[in-house]
Amino acid sequence: MQRAAARALRGARVPSARPRSAPARGAPRGLVYGQHGEPPAVLRLKDLELAKLGDSDVHVKMLAAPINPADINMIQGTYALLSPLPAVGGNEGVGEVLEVGRHVKALEPGDWVIPASTSLGTWRTQGVFPEEALLKVPRDIPVLCAATLSVNPCTAYRMLADFETLAPGDSVIQNAANSGVGQAVIQIAKASGIKTINVVRDRPDLPKLVERLMALGADHVITEEMLRKPEMKDIFKNIPKPRLALNCVGGKSATEMLRHLQPKGTMVTYGGMAKQPVMVPVSAFIFRDVQLRGFWMTQWRKEHAQDPQVLASMMDALFQLIRRGQLSAPACTQVPLQDYRAALEAAMKPFTSSKQILLF
Ligand SMILES: NC(=O)c1ccc[n+]([C@@H]2O[C@H](COP(=O)([O-])OP(=O)(O)OC[C@H]3O[C@@H](n4cnc5c(N)ncnc54)[C@H](OP(=O)(O)O)[C@@H]3O)[C@@H](O)[C@H]2O)c1
Repeated sequence: MQRAAARALRGARVPSARPRSAPARGAPRGLVYGQHGEPPAVLRLKDLELAKLGDSDVHVKMLAAPINPADINMIQGTYALLSPLPAVGGNEGVGEVLEVGRHVKALEPGDWVIPASTSLGTWRTQGVFPEEALLKVPRDIPVLCAATLSVNPCTAYRMLADFETLAPGDSVIQNAANSGVGQAVIQIAKASGIKTINVVRDRPDLPKLVERLMALGADHVITEEMLRKPEMKDIFKNIPKPRLALNCVGGKSATEMLRHLQPKGTMVTYGGMAKQPVMVPVSAFIFRDVQLRGFWMTQWRKEHAQDPQVLASMMDALFQLIRRGQLSAPACTQVPLQDYRAALEAAMKPFTSSKQILLF
């Protein structure tokens, strides 16, 4: 995947083939960084040379791609996985297939595709990628759902499925509940009859945010400060204490969530937005035997690369939820590519509560 992105950027030669379609090509452009640093400073909108279509390659016109925290961290050079430089930014998005090489089996012009793993470099108008770097998605789902499907809803789905066996009526607690992942957790849990306790940071327009998350299916929305208050007991008069806590923040927020976990419950850390370590009271280990786990979607994909059935069954479940209106795209702001700086700045500001989605 990383090699594919670098090759497409450099326009390296690949064996030519007679394509199964020959659409007109405009000059491809993309957001490129040649060094690590703050994204608005190091990213440039540049013309890209399109690699020739190889036998197993697919020429894709990108439609929409979100700006996620991991994209920012990759450009800053602080993420666990970095692309070789220069690189095109972006790991997620949806595109339409324009043409395919003659050995391509599963895709044809007109299909919609999303990245099969990270580092594709999705912030570009067009690209040529190997077939195995792409996953077909149905065209009957909204484009914004498709553009934001491969990272956050998949992460939410896996964390709800893989760590605790949850039954309808059980509960889950999560922080950064207004994040892209958090919104997907609320909706997927709701569709399975699982109750959610959703923790957000306090803000001036809190009632509006609470209303929005309740409309998505949240059972309780509370602030980080509320976690420490005796009123928390009231919540557990109606629903059981959570068996699962999903931690996107770290620091105090994680410590306070842990206090409400059932004995032998699990806290899964998947993000570190506060940039603070997770601190655990020893009593949580000794008297409640809580389990601390971690999750990284990129690793899950690697570990399940030989098991396409598991991936297909997750994707099918998510497509069904979308079609039934039970899973929507996160609250978002659609931004034309040329306004990328404003989008990056908004994505990096606290309390934005809106996923920035680049349109190509
Ligand atoms: N492990 C994985 O496989 C995986 C997969 C997907 C995402 N992630 C991670 O999950 C996190 C969320 O991703 P996303 O795309 O869902 O994010 P997003 O939609 O951009 O939302 C960011 C969230 O982080 C919160 N936040 C920011 N700074 C914070 C702080 N200092 N303290 C507490 N909350 C803070 C924001 O809350 P406010 O509204 O209060 O600012 C918002 O809820 C990121 O760290 C991302 O890398 C991990």
